[in-house]
Amino acid sequence: MNGPRILLTRRWPKAVEDALRLNFEVTANSDDVPMTADQLKMAMRHYDALCPTVSDRITAEILSVPDARVRIIGNYGVGLDHIDMRAAKAAGIVVTNTPDVLTESTAELTLLLILMASRRASDGERELRSGHWTGWRPIHMLGWSLAGRTLGLVGFGRIARATAQRARAALGMRIAYFSRHRATPEDEEKLAATHCNSLDELISIADVLSLHCPGGAETHHLINRHRLGQMKRTAILINTARGTIINEFELAAALNSGQIAAAGLDVYESEPAIHAALLAARNTVLLPHLGSATLETRTAMGMRVAENLGRFFTGEPPVDRVV
Ligand code: DGY
Repeated sequence: MNGPRILLTRRWPKAVEDALRLNFEVTANSDDVPMTADQLKMAMRHYDALCPTVSDRITAEILSVPDARVRIIGNYGVGLDHIDMRAAKAAGIVVTNTPDVLTESTAELTLLLILMASRRASDGERELRSGHWTGWRPIHMLGWSLAGRTLGLVGFGRIARATAQRARAALGMRIAYFSRHRATPEDEEKLAATHCNSLDELISIADVLSLHCPGGAETHHLINRHRLGQMKRTAILINTARGTIINEFELAAALNSGQIAAAGLDVYESEPAIHAALLAARNTVLLPHLGSATLETRTAMGMRVAENLGRFFTGEPPVDRVV
């Protein structure tokens, strides 16, 4: 198929790759490993559109290569902290993302982590598989009940709200949140969500603190030794947003000293590397960035990129244009 030349930096679900091939000349990175900066710079000169994922680093150096042919970056995912947005804007490159379609699956995974961390599911499975389970006993591997406890949401965007709705309906949790953009009274009422005036206030009342703010410089190490020290000793920390929001070394120390009870993480500071201290920390559930990982969602994300590219190359505004 002739048409705009697009590069997928990783393999995408087959249905999406097939659909893209109807309108574009598609190259998919068949090795399915992150491309190097040099490969990405070369790609900037050869393709009309670059379609990266969270596993790529799209730096100012890459975006400002001389003689670039790329006019649009169709990001496969909603978070954009791996792309230098200022440099994209300066280079006149349009950037789109894939909001909405991954909200439910990410909220589901957040609930999974809340449940796994509060009931020590990883510890339990590890003990059983290693042959160390000695049988039922009253004080074996006790966790923390969730009904009536407060879920504190940092950020109150789509994923936080979908998480709130599920945690309340399915687990009977109370909902509190902190966000710079306060929800309308109608939305607060619908979700029975209480707004906290500061992050400190939210942290001090949360039994489960779940992060739903963007990554990037503004939220870098927002959760650090000081903030971990403000949490209840029985509290659980959940992160399905971006790893950079937490200082992992200080989190590991807080878990090991009993400063907080448990953590459930899906994202990390330097993926795919995981801080050794975190790997060894007690009461910690660690998943490999699976928030949007269902076939339905990953397909919908790709179709959303296809729609954005289709509109761009036919002269219409892409629905999810960010820059
Ligand atoms: C995103 O969309 O930003 C996720 O982290 C990858 O699914």
